[in-house]
Amino acid sequence: MNMIVAADKNWGIGKAGQLLTHLSGDLKYFKERTMGKAVVMGRKTLESLPGGRPLPGRTNIVLTANPDYKKEDCVIVHNKEELCEKCAEFPADGVMIIGGATLYNELMEQCDSLFITKIYEEFEADAFIKNADELPDYKVVWQSEMQEEHGIKYQFFEYKREK
Ligand SMILES: NC(=O)c1ccc[n+]([C@@H]2O[C@H](COP(=O)([O-])OP(=O)(O)OC[C@H]3O[C@@H](n4cnc5c(N)ncnc54)[C@H](OP(=O)(O)O)[C@@H]3O)[C@@H](O)[C@H]2O)c1
Repeated sequence: MNMIVAADKNWGIGKAGQLLTHLSGDLKYFKERTMGKAVVMGRKTLESLPGGRPLPGRTNIVLTANPDYKKEDCVIVHNKEELCEKCAEFPADGVMIIGGATLYNELMEQCDSLFITKIYEEFEADAFIKNADELPDYKVVWQSEMQEEHGIKYQFFEYKREK
């Protein structure tokens, strides 16, 4: 499995249940990287999507501890074991963790590739991921050109697990 996330200079990724900023180039990149795949998210991230609806064109797998939780067009799993069983039905590079902080921090080190958009700004945040540059087993294998939107600079990176 892989993951995709946009983080600021402090590895902040969200505030009050929402993203820190909206960058249309990053949303387009997210769509390209996830389309046709299985996307795995926490229940709170699903509910933060427009209309609380799953992402079209992708298999939406949602993690919640609530045994009664139901959502149309979503596959619901209740723990990491159920998640792993479901993910095993897809090719390893066909599963993308898409948030939020709880999911990233639980599953980051099980990912083969981390697709990280580094936003070169500092926002007020209440949700963070681990600093990928301090994970000993991961190395940057690709980075994009610098991007800029309404004065905000950002760049796409792929980290790969070496071991
Ligand atoms: N910058 C980005 O790229 C990005 C991407 C996505 C999200 N975000 C941000 O991340 C923030 C949300 O993160 P979050 O950590 O609050 O929420 P989250 O990870 O989306 O969802 C957390 C919920 O997932 C379920 N869950 C997590 N681990 C579980 C496990 N092992 N077993 C069963 N259920 C489990 C629980 O649901 P129940 O409470 O229902 O049991 C838990 O409350 C928001 O600010 C959002 O905008 C940022």
